[in-house]
Amino acid sequence: MRHIRNFSIIAHIDHGKSTLADRLIHRCGGLADREMDAQVLDSMDLERERGITIKAQTASLLYTAKDGQVYQFNLIDTPGHVDFSYEVSRSLQACEGALLVVDASQGVEAQTVANCYTAIEQNLEVIPVLNKVDLPAADPERVRAEIEDVIGVDASEATLCSAKTGLGIDDILETVVRRVPPPVGDPAAPLKALIIDSWFDSYVGVVILVRVIDGCIKAKDRMRLMANGAEYPVDQVGVFTPKSLVRETLSAGEVGFVISGIKVISDAKVGDTVTLATRPADKPLPGFKEIKSQVFAGLYPVESNEYEQLRESLEKLQLNDAALRFEPEVSQALGFGFRCGFLGLLHMDIVQERLEREFDIDLITTAPTVVYEVLMKDGSVMKVENPAKLPDPSKMDEIREPIIRATIYLPQEYVGVVITLCTQKRGSQVDMRYHGRQVQLVYDIPMNEVVMDFFDRLKSVSRGYASLDYELHCYQAADLVKLDMLVNGEKVDALSVIVHRANAHYRGRELAAKLRGIIPRQMFDVAVQAAIGSTIVSRENIKALRKNVLAKCYGGDISRKRKLLEKQKAGKRRMKQVGAVEIPQEAFLAVLRTD
Ligand code: GTP
Repeated sequence: MRHIRNFSIIAHIDHGKSTLADRLIHRCGGLADREMDAQVLDSMDLERERGITIKAQTASLLYTAKDGQVYQFNLIDTPGHVDFSYEVSRSLQACEGALLVVDASQGVEAQTVANCYTAIEQNLEVIPVLNKVDLPAADPERVRAEIEDVIGVDASEATLCSAKTGLGIDDILETVVRRVPPPVGDPAAPLKALIIDSWFDSYVGVVILVRVIDGCIKAKDRMRLMANGAEYPVDQVGVFTPKSLVRETLSAGEVGFVISGIKVISDAKVGDTVTLATRPADKPLPGFKEIKSQVFAGLYPVESNEYEQLRESLEKLQLNDAALRFEPEVSQALGFGFRCGFLGLLHMDIVQERLEREFDIDLITTAPTVVYEVLMKDGSVMKVENPAKLPDPSKMDEIREPIIRATIYLPQEYVGVVITLCTQKRGSQVDMRYHGRQVQLVYDIPMNEVVMDFFDRLKSVSRGYASLDYELHCYQAADLVKLDMLVNGEKVDALSVIVHRANAHYRGRELAAKLRGIIPRQMFDVAVQAAIGSTIVSRENIKALRKNVLAKCYGGDISRKRKLLEKQKAGKRRMKQVGAVEIPQEAFLAVLRTD
């Protein structure tokens, strides 16, 4: 155990975490050159395309240090995006140290700070690394001072490195040996292993990734999951190098996978403790804190007969993604579907894409919404995660909305525009600090506004330089109303939104105008109306279609006719028939783009 080092790399997005991980793997001979698929740790196709790390993964590496000894490095990859900070914290629970990677041409950003604090809270040894020093714009001295000033971590010995050229990699490996403490734990004690991650593999079934704290686990053992007492025979244990490598045992201090006969995918809960049935531990390890979804949206299959398939796919995804929540929901407009809870917008995007790509289901997604608290006249408090379910105003005393505390880092020159944006979004300033060139702004902003388009706007007004981190701060009463949309006289429940009263008329007009542009013309005139209660606040007309699409084809050109019909069919895939009118997917998200 003296030769084991468990560590993670934490960084702000794009500061080079995955590139550095690849370098470390490469240097330790984990993969041959031809296998060095760019960024091996980001295993899912989707991640490769988006270039962000979603699931924490791990690699076990052997490193021969300058002292001549061979060390086992367990590198645990962590995601950098604000939506996934819970995955950072659970990966860190399996480590004794963390490399804090900061882009030397950029400096300290919001997630550098947030992730670093998570590591410090968990008593990890934090090792600062200044990456991208090969760039002409790199200014390691300034960034070193920023790390000390903003985060308060000693950066005087920070390694200068370039994950791109390989500079400083050996230094980093030696520093890990020297500064990251070896794990403590008793290999002879009853087994206690923490489930860091679990996922469904189509060949071997459920795979769990564990950090063994005490004891050991091997094939043919009978393991027990402490949360529900379920028992399974262990088929295989091993490590990822990052290719999977079967081993005889995994013992205290190690990180690796366990394959067993787990059939019920919900059994392998991330954060649960694995022990042995023959000699169980007396109590489980402290688990991870329950993750709360902050953004909700309805997911409906375009083809209603794909409902069951959607349910199964969500169940499989959930195993792989502990933060995903879902429950059945019925919409008058969209039929049977699920109300799903996500950590944030990026998380929602990813789930949606994985459903479509990996499970081949076409979806209609409704606009994301936050969770409101409603104080009823009878004194009870209810949570509303679907605007269509907001009780009748006569029964409500007040509506409270979630407020987030946002920490924004940005270069001085953008302070003015960012403050204007925060004010527009009903934010109130809590703090503002200068750290040299960087400014730290702290704002309390209604989450509802953030879900809309805050992040995109922030990036655009600051030309990409501002970075954001946030956490739920409190619930606050606000003057909110439900805005309903009527298409052809019928209320479309999936289009309802909750907005601030002061903006309601404006938003109603804007939304009606947008829908007019999105909903295709039908054979008859269609009215699009926005209403608050029974008051219509806006109305637009979609003129009837005069000719049908084939009219132009003079009956003769059959191939052209077929093409047109096919085009029409493809266009239909993302439409939902609501009453007599077909509404395309974009309509349900129209509310998100405010101008
Ligand atoms: P997420 O996975 O999205 O959190 O990003 P990351 O922190 O893993 O960053 P990634 O490794 O994907 O690197 C981001 C970009 O920076 C890529 O285009 C890399 O090629 C580039 N990059 C990484 N390290 C270096 C470096 O040392 N020098 C230079 N010039 N570019 C680098």
